[in-house]
Amino acid sequence: MEQKSSTRSKVGVRWTQIQVKTAVESADAIANYLFENEAVGLEIQEGNDQHTLLVYFPQDDLMALRLRNLQRFISKLPNFGLPGEGFVTIEMRAYDSQDWADSWRSAFPPQQIGTQVIVAPTWHHTEFADQDEAQSDNSKILIRLDPGMAFGTGHHPTTRLSLLLLSDLEFKGREVVADIGTGSGILSILAVKMGVKKVVAIDIDETALNVAEHNFVVNDVVNKTDLRHSHGLDNTSEKFHLIIANIISQVILPMIPLYPKYLRKHGKLILSGILENESQTIRKALRDNGFRCLKERKQNEWIGILAQKGS
Ligand SMILES: C[S@@+](CC[C@H](N)C(=O)[O-])C[C@H]1O[C@@H](n2cnc3c(N)ncnc32)[C@H](O)[C@@H]1O
Repeated sequence: MEQKSSTRSKVGVRWTQIQVKTAVESADAIANYLFENEAVGLEIQEGNDQHTLLVYFPQDDLMALRLRNLQRFISKLPNFGLPGEGFVTIEMRAYDSQDWADSWRSAFPPQQIGTQVIVAPTWHHTEFADQDEAQSDNSKILIRLDPGMAFGTGHHPTTRLSLLLLSDLEFKGREVVADIGTGSGILSILAVKMGVKKVVAIDIDETALNVAEHNFVVNDVVNKTDLRHSHGLDNTSEKFHLIIANIISQVILPMIPLYPKYLRKHGKLILSGILENESQTIRKALRDNGFRCLKERKQNEWIGILAQKGS
């Protein structure tokens, strides 16, 4: 089971659960759509022939509109070579917030990413539950997350790819990093725990910034992080050693020409949120803007790229 987003329980609030059964090939596109359209909590149950997506929305007047828009999105999937309407069923039901909080928690197990990184929810006891214990094992980095309504539990391939590409790097303690689309703050936390000097963590979503702020406190990285409400690097004056952006290709692509200006000489770029069929376009844009691709990682149909400024 995979968690793409997470939630904060609001006791007493009524929720609508939408269950989407979809052909495997279309699951990530639909999950992405739902997430971008403010689904609160998204769980992917993987099957052999089809995946089931469970998402939650507050029970309000917008439900009929959300459902119509979802159906319209699904009807357009064949334009992108993905199975559409005939391969998708949608069901809705009312859901009690307390049931949801409980099922959410049980569906967010701790996980190890690569050899080094462990992501665990704050309520979960792991063998590294004690920060000191994790820190005394120099080979492991523990990230504690209290998922709020922000993307970035580490369960989605795009986050995992970013964590892996980041954990492949080495830092000397003087690096300044930008984390564009910080979500839960997960990538900023890893960068700080790997030894960078400072991370500028940016998001357009105020809710995500609140969640990231909380997670920075939990992980004791507040002094080395600078949270900003911004569209990409607008209004940023620093030059970075590394820029990380796990957003969707449609957002990443127009930002690529801007990155060289914000990167130091030989500065690096980690891009994720790229679907396999979009990766050629992204690679070309990187080349056209003076980047060299150093590494590519793949999980399911998602691609993560590490690139460097200059040849
Ligand atoms: C896929 S999530 C990534 C979260 C986290 N960094 C991770 O790797 O799991 C993308 C985040 O980018 C934010 N975002 C989308 N467009 C943005 C933009 N133009 N500028 C800054 N943040 C943006 C969204 O609000 C969301 O929190």
